[in-house]
Amino acid sequence: MYNEPMLKENALKDKVIVVTGGGSGLGKAMTNYFLELGADVVITSRNIDKLSSVKEELEQKTGGKVLPVQCDVRNYEEVENMLKATLQEFGKVDGLLNNAAGNFISPTERLSSNAFDTIIDIVLKGTKNCTLAFGKHWIDSKQQKATVLNIVTTYAWTGSAYVVPSATAKAGVLAMTRSLAVEWAKYGIRFNAIAPGPFPTKGAWDRLLPGDLKDKFDMKKKIPLRRVGEHQELANLAAYLMSDYSSYINGEVVTIDGGEWLQGAGEFNMLEAIPKEMWDMLEAMIRAKKS
Ligand code: HXC
Ligand code: NAP
Repeated sequence: MYNEPMLKENALKDKVIVVTGGGSGLGKAMTNYFLELGADVVITSRNIDKLSSVKEELEQKTGGKVLPVQCDVRNYEEVENMLKATLQEFGKVDGLLNNAAGNFISPTERLSSNAFDTIIDIVLKGTKNCTLAFGKHWIDSKQQKATVLNIVTTYAWTGSAYVVPSATAKAGVLAMTRSLAVEWAKYGIRFNAIAPGPFPTKGAWDRLLPGDLKDKFDMKKKIPLRRVGEHQELANLAAYLMSDYSSYINGEVVTIDGGEWLQGAGEFNMLEAIPKEMWDMLEAMIRAKKS
């Protein structure tokens, strides 16, 4: 059942939502569900050909309306133009989903300064650029309510070796989410974040588990529920947080990872490896120490 859509029909009707990085992977999956729920969606990324073909595909599939806009989130002027194009087409915007990201695995000492900057610029500065441009617009236009949803990941708070620029940037995005949830609540703007664990996509897997790494490191083994996430599961959560059903949720980060990060964190979680039969012996040894 975890592949079933969750929200009521038309739960996002009359909403206009911008999804950065909406032409692939999780961004595309969330866009698809927003459309099914009645929203108009603007999808943005650097590659307009990809966006245009996704527009055709999703409009045909869902009957919704998609506006593809080329926009490199690293460039503030391009972000302002993307906002203008959105307003020109739809007259308003209700939601911003900061989903665009860049990432690859590397020992940090191998990174050039530009490589580190590239990830920070896409993830942290890109989220800042979109948030600032849209926030200024919402505040100036005195729009009653708006929602920003940021996609982070669980290493935003644990940190992670070998993806240090991404961890640094996602931590910044999480801090921005919580800070503005308070500061801009008075303007009716809500901020929340989602922290997904592994949800296989081509973009992420090509860069995080290249070649046979995906076979060597079976992600399922790191997850208490012993499976990776389904795109619809994430889309259900994102649609809820974008919708008015979550009107009282502000400043929250919702983890959706099957328990993965806690499995890595709990001091004695390694005892999962002890076979059931061994517990009688271990208990007897512990009890024997009492006398
Ligand atoms: C070391 C590298 C490198 C690598 C690039 N660089 N790849 N350094 N190892 N594998 C260096 C380059 O040499 C250059 O530095 C600098 O990084 C910028 O590279 P460009 O190729 O010029 O950048 P650009 O064309 O802007 O591409 C950005 C990118 C690329 C991040 C490198 O991978 C990309 O477009 N990614 C977008 C999609 C993506 O990453 N999706 C995955 C998200 S997954 P120099 O010094 O040579 O100029 C994710 C999951 C998180 O976030 C959690 C999972 C559980
Ligand atoms: P993806 O398909 O590679 O998505 C990344 C998107 O960002 C692409 O559509 C890409 O489009 C866009 N993008 C990259 N640089 C950009 C830039 N400078 N300007 C505008 N758009 C840019 O990977 P994904 O797995 O779906 O990731 C989506 C989000 O989920 C990311 O925030 C990622 O950190 C997060 N996440 C993913 C996982 C997972 O397991 N997949 C887990 C935790 C968090 P273009 O290349 O066309 O620009």
